[in-house]
Amino acid sequence: MIPNEFTPEALSAVQTDAFRPYQSFLQSGEPYLSIFINNPWLLPPKDGDALDWGKGWYYDTTVARKHEYWRDIDLPTPTKDLQQLGRDLHEWGFCLIEDGLSAEQCSRIRERVADQAAAERALGIGYLVSSQQHVWSLVNKGADFVGLLQHDPDSVQAGPMIERILDETLGTGWNHFSLLANISYPGCYPQPMHQDQTWVAPIHTHEAPILVNSMYILQDVDERNGGTLLVPGSHRANGEPGKGLYGALPRPINLEAPAGTVLMFDGRLLHGGAVNHTDDHRYVLTNSVVKPWARQQESFLLGVSPEVLAEATDKLLWRLGLQSMITANLVEGYGYRGTAQSGDANGSLAAVRRRFDGAYRHVGELSMATVHEVDVEQFSLVQIQREQETFRTEEHLRHMRELPAPT
Ligand SMILES: [Fe+2]
Repeated sequence: MIPNEFTPEALSAVQTDAFRPYQSFLQSGEPYLSIFINNPWLLPPKDGDALDWGKGWYYDTTVARKHEYWRDIDLPTPTKDLQQLGRDLHEWGFCLIEDGLSAEQCSRIRERVADQAAAERALGIGYLVSSQQHVWSLVNKGADFVGLLQHDPDSVQAGPMIERILDETLGTGWNHFSLLANISYPGCYPQPMHQDQTWVAPIHTHEAPILVNSMYILQDVDERNGGTLLVPGSHRANGEPGKGLYGALPRPINLEAPAGTVLMFDGRLLHGGAVNHTDDHRYVLTNSVVKPWARQQESFLLGVSPEVLAEATDKLLWRLGLQSMITANLVEGYGYRGTAQSGDANGSLAAVRRRFDGAYRHVGELSMATVHEVDVEQFSLVQIQREQETFRTEEHLRHMRELPAPT
């Protein structure tokens, strides 16, 4: 006989007057409650609604040098000066690395992304939302993406500088959260404004971020083609004590930066994808990295292909989270004696993963040049999409296939 105190009836009877010291914090809705109450112009449009211009909505903006509020304020501009980058990131929540990608790296990566994205749309396996097309699992879709994940100067010439800034902002030992392409297509909606470390809400880390995003800008961006919306300085909560985390905020800008710039931004910075007013796609990559205890956005343990796994360096395996240790990712006890060092054989999840390999077929590099020869049925993802993804309707696929080809 189960004691009466443990029954659902008894528990619900004491629910209203129970001692629940954490409820007001857990149900606070912060940071978004105070952000939207104090800045209602930040509310996103609903899918299907026409965008409303001239009314002060967050997406109706321009680049800093043309912006009524921001034009006389000294915001970050692209630089190679490490000290300045550190100050910009701390002060404004973002910094811009000038020529972080060489012209050659930039055009090579843009071409690869554009081709992959077009092929995924053509095959109806892409991921499209109202604000963007996303190309996920880039780790499997080209050697330069593995290069980016390792900050290899052959793929990103500013790699060592990016690593240094990440180390100084997050501490060493960070992991990748995700690496994807964010493609603002002609006619896309603005993305809701958000903070990339929202997944810890309502916890707000006042002292430092727990996520830093590096955005690889693959063509010139500005207010016309969807330069990312940023609220400079919004990484710092500005609310009055007892009145919510955030008070009134200044309006966003559209990012203006030349191709090859690397935007690094604080996980607490309010930002969002912008409207693309042109007839061309706008390509950027975003690579968020996080403290190594965080759960990753992309489940690399499952998502990385056997081919990439076979070639992976210890550095890459660590950053993908494929190293178990006493406090993380044990498999039947394996890893408990790990030393939490990169390359430690006592916690190699690659050794575990290889024993599962064979049944799942990953999507790899795709190209419009060979897309007609591809049998999508070979991809395990396609079976899962068909069985599980309720949004992948005929109409959705038609919309995906009707987006313009890259120019
Ligand atoms: Fe974001």
